[in-house]
Amino acid sequence: MREQLEKLKNITLQAIKESSSLEELQEIRINLLGRKGELTALMKGLGLLEPAERPIVGQLVNSVRDEIETALAAATESANQKLIARRLQSEQIDTSLPGRHPLKGTKHPVSLVIEEICSIFAGLGFAVAEGPEIEHDWYNFEALNFPPEHPARDMQDTFFVEKSLLLRTHTSPVQIRTMLKQKPPIRIIAPGTVYRCDSDATHSPMFHQIEGLMVDTKVTFGDLKGILTVFTNQLFGQKTGVRLRPSYFPFTEPSAEVDIACVICGGKGCRVCKNSGWLEILGAGMVDPEVYRHVQYDAENISGFAFGMGIERIAMLKYGISDMRLLFENDIRFLRQF
Ligand code: PHE
Repeated sequence: MREQLEKLKNITLQAIKESSSLEELQEIRINLLGRKGELTALMKGLGLLEPAERPIVGQLVNSVRDEIETALAAATESANQKLIARRLQSEQIDTSLPGRHPLKGTKHPVSLVIEEICSIFAGLGFAVAEGPEIEHDWYNFEALNFPPEHPARDMQDTFFVEKSLLLRTHTSPVQIRTMLKQKPPIRIIAPGTVYRCDSDATHSPMFHQIEGLMVDTKVTFGDLKGILTVFTNQLFGQKTGVRLRPSYFPFTEPSAEVDIACVICGGKGCRVCKNSGWLEILGAGMVDPEVYRHVQYDAENISGFAFGMGIERIAMLKYGISDMRLLFENDIRFLRQF
C-alpha cells in the first residue's frame, strides 16, 4: 500500500507538471480525487487494514493528497495566468493607430458676410425681414417708382417668369412688403437672393443683396450717414474712410452711392479701386414720398432712409477674392479656406 501510494503520487505529480491546460488538470483531479478516483478508492480500502496500521496509512494518504492538491492548485493558477496573458495579448487595441477624421463642412463666405452684417445691424436695433424671390412687377418696380419705360425693366436685365411675374432684381421689394404689413417705426434688414441677366468676373446672374429700411417720425440724412459709418467701421475696421456721392434711384430722394476707402491699398490707388482710392459698396437715400404713397403712408409726417448692398462684392473685398465666379463654382479647396 505504501508503495502503491508512492507510485500514485509520483505519476500524478509528473502528469501535473506535463499538463498544459485547465481541462487536463481538471481531469487529473477527477481521476484521483473524484468519487471514483484512485485515491478515493485507496481511502475506502483503509477499513480493511489492521486497526494498528490504519492511522499510519491514513496519515500517509492525507499527506499525499495534500501534496497533490497543492501541486494542482499551483498548476491551475499558472494555467489561469497564461490564459489571461494570452487573452490580453489577443484583445490588445493599438491606440497608436491614427484616427479617421470626420469630414467637416465650412460656412460659405457669402453666408459668413450675411451673418456678420445682420449681427452688426441687430446691434443697431434692426430686425431681419424676408420676401419672395419670384416677385410681382408691382413690388419690384411699380411701387418703387420705376416709370413704365425705365431701362431696368428691360428684358436684358430682368428674368421674366410671366408678363408681370419676375425674378426679383433687387431686395428693395421687401421695403414695400414690410411697409404694407406694418406701421412706422420700422427698422429692418432684408438679406436675400436676387437675379439679373449679367455674367462676368464681377457679375453673376444670381447674387445676394442686403436691404435696409428705417422709417420713423424724424429720420434724417444725418441718421443714414451715422448708421452707415458705424456699419462700415465695424465691418471693415475702425476708421475706414466713408464717402457719399450724389446718385439716383427712383425710390429714394436724395440718393447717394456710398464708398469706403480702398481696403486693398488704403486709399493710395491700386488696380482693385481703379486708382481712385475708393470702392463703391452700397446705394442709399431718403425714401421717396412717391413710395409712401404706394403703401398708404402719410408722407407729411414720417421720414426714412433705405440702403442696399451686394454681398458678393463685399465678400470679395473682405477676403481678397478677385473673381466672383469662385464664389459659385463650389470648389471645395477654395471653400475650405473660410
Ligand atoms: N436696390 C438698389 C440696387 O439694387 C440699391 C438701393 C437700395 C438703393 C435701397 C437705394 C436704396 O441697386
